[in-house]
Amino acid sequence: MSSMADIILGIESSCDDTSAAVLRDGVLLSNVIASQQVHKDFGGVVPELASRAHEQNIVPVVSEALRKAGVTPADLTAIAFTRGPGLLGSLLVGTSFAKALSLSLDIPMVMVNHLQGHILANFVRQPDKPVDEPAFPYLCLLVSGGNSQIVKVNSPLEYEILGQTIDDAVGEAFDKCSKMLGLGYPGGPVIDRLAKLGDPNRFHFAKPNIPGLDYSFSGIKTSLLYFVRDEMAKDPEFLEKNKEDLCASFQKTLIDILMGKLIRAAKETKIKQITIGGGVSANSGLRERIVAEGKKRGWKTFLPEFKFTTDNAAMIAVAGWFRYQAGERTPLDVAPVSRMADY
Ligand code: KG4
Repeated sequence: MSSMADIILGIESSCDDTSAAVLRDGVLLSNVIASQQVHKDFGGVVPELASRAHEQNIVPVVSEALRKAGVTPADLTAIAFTRGPGLLGSLLVGTSFAKALSLSLDIPMVMVNHLQGHILANFVRQPDKPVDEPAFPYLCLLVSGGNSQIVKVNSPLEYEILGQTIDDAVGEAFDKCSKMLGLGYPGGPVIDRLAKLGDPNRFHFAKPNIPGLDYSFSGIKTSLLYFVRDEMAKDPEFLEKNKEDLCASFQKTLIDILMGKLIRAAKETKIKQITIGGGVSANSGLRERIVAEGKKRGWKTFLPEFKFTTDNAAMIAVAGWFRYQAGERTPLDVAPVSRMADY
């Protein structure tokens, strides 16, 4: 391997996926993800179980990523790792591992904000695939289980939050409603699948009226639940008979809310480069709608591949590589953080 290339090992452990990736001058050589099955019975991620599973997974996952990439630890230039936001115990595993490896190989480490990873996911280059990357500044609709934001990205290192949720994240709205309707966890993929079979215009739910570019998703949940409860009182089989239409109508409402503010942000900033990131960006209805709105409005839209929508180390490696190139280095006494106020 040429000694001139930057070979970055990315490590992601913020929630319930242990992931490691290797990037050579921005090109992805490997991206290994171990998803945790231990949470299935609990309807949500159990933090203590997550950290234990990360501890079991981290060494085999990193070894596999290096093996698949065809590199040895001695080839590595730097280690990029997720510092936060996320579950503290989970973050601690990835951070401690990065420190130990950095110390033993005598190479620098670079901390990455997990959200920046999602926002930069479109910059992961893949061998044999054409490069198609947004130009700066661009807007990113960042939608996950923990965040719903419209971010203006001025450069790989400079971010402005134009709007964000004042209560629940949109992924939470998917997850909580699915759980309460007895459809399973995580709710996003279940609702997405059922929504494809239903009529999105059958039911109507109250939309929030929040000033500026901010979002709110807690009211829509209540709106859905009260509606279903009232209908069930009349017909106990209402839910079973109508779940496809309910999911389609509910999902359409969430997408309407997301798109309303995104369109406004694009108008106000006059930015036409639009990306999307985070777990909810896997939603097929949202993806179709972004593309359709983009055609109508002359946007250039960028949708990350499905494998880069959920948590993965490839996006952490690319975000870390930008920072490495800018000269950033993270000292060994860094501590992970569960929340990050800003970028
Ligand atoms: O980014 P992510 O993997 O984890 C964090 O929140 O950090 O996002 C997980 C969220 C969950 O709320 C999940 O329900 C949602 O992404 N999600 C989806 C879909 N796939 C995952 N939401 C809607 N449609 C999907 N297809």
